Amino acid sequence: MSKVPALKNVTATFERGKFYGVIGENAGGKTTLCNLIRGLIPHFYKGKLKGEVTIDGEDLRKLDIDILSTQLGYIFQNPFTQISGVKKTVFEEIALGMENLGVPKEEMIRRVFEIAELLKIEDLLQNDPNALSGGQRQKVAFASIIAMDSDTFVIDEPTSQLDPDGTAAIFEIIQTLKEQGKTIILVEHKVDLLAQYADEVLVMHGGELIAQGKTQDVLSDISLREKGAMLPHTVEFYQVLKAEGKILDRVPVTRQDCIAQLKERLV
Ligand SMILES: Nc1ncnc2c1ncn2[C@@H]1O[C@H](COP(=O)(O)OP(=O)(O)OP(=O)(O)O)[C@@H](O)[C@H]1O
Ligand SMILES: [Mg+2]
Repeated sequence: MSKVPALKNVTATFERGKFYGVIGENAGGKTTLCNLIRGLIPHFYKGKLKGEVTIDGEDLRKLDIDILSTQLGYIFQNPFTQISGVKKTVFEEIALGMENLGVPKEEMIRRVFEIAELLKIEDLLQNDPNALSGGQRQKVAFASIIAMDSDTFVIDEPTSQLDPDGTAAIFEIIQTLKEQGKTIILVEHKVDLLAQYADEVLVMHGGELIAQGKTQDVLSDISLREKGAMLPHTVEFYQVLKAEGKILDRVPVTRQDCIAQLKERLV
C-alpha cells in the first residue's frame, strides 16, 4: 500500500439524471475516483477511507456490493479486463450481465440485437470475444454493460481504442441514456465531445479534485491547462485570436458557440 493518499480533498455530489465528465492528467486520480464511487474502495481495493461516500443518503460501505453493482453499471478503462473470458460468442458476452440479473430470455435477445445495431457490431455477434481487436473489445464491453440498464453508469475512457466514428457512436448512446434519465459519470480525454454533451465537468490533479462546475465554466478556465487538463480546441483558438487583439465575448468551449460568436462579428 502506498503511503501517499491516491485521493484527497474530494467533495462532490452527483445528481440523478445528469451527465458528468471527469478529466485531468494521467495518474491524476480519475480511475480511483470511479472506484470510490462504485464502492470498490475499501471493499475490494484495501485501503483507508476517510470521509464518507453515500448514495441516496446511505453509507456505501454498508451497502451490499452485489446489489450495488446491479444499480451501477461500470465500464473499465481497459476493455481487456471487462471481457469475461468464459463466453464463446460476442452475443453471449453481451447477454452475460443480463443473464446474471435474470432478464427473461426474449427480452435479453431483443436487447442484444438492439444494442449491437446501435454500436454497429451486428457482424461480430457470432465471433469469439477473445479474438477481437482492442476497438471491437471496447465496443463489446460497453454493450454488455449498457444492456444491463442500470440507473447510473460510471464509464472510464470508453473510446480510448476507437476511431472517430466509433467514438461518436458511443457519445450518441451516452446522450440517449441521459435522455432516459440515467446518471452518467464519464472519464474522457476527448474534451471537445465532453464540451458538447456534459452538464458538468470535474478535474482531477495529483489525486485532488481541483475544479468542478458547469461545463462552460470549467472548460473555459485556461489555467487548468497548466495542471495537465486538456481543454477544447476552441479554447486554443480563442487564445490565438486574443494574441492578435481580437477578443471574443466569451471563451467558446464548443464549435457551435465558436461559430456563433464569429458570425456575430462578421456581420
Ligand atoms: N490499487 C491502488 N493502490 C495504490 N495506489 C493506487 C492504486 N491504483 C492507483 N493508484 C495510484 O493512484 C494514483 C491515481 O491513479 P489513477 O489510476 O486513479 O489515475 P488516472 O487519473 O485514472 O490516470 P490515467 O489517465 O492514466 O488513467 C496513481 O498515483 C496511482 O499510482
Ligand atoms: Mg484511469
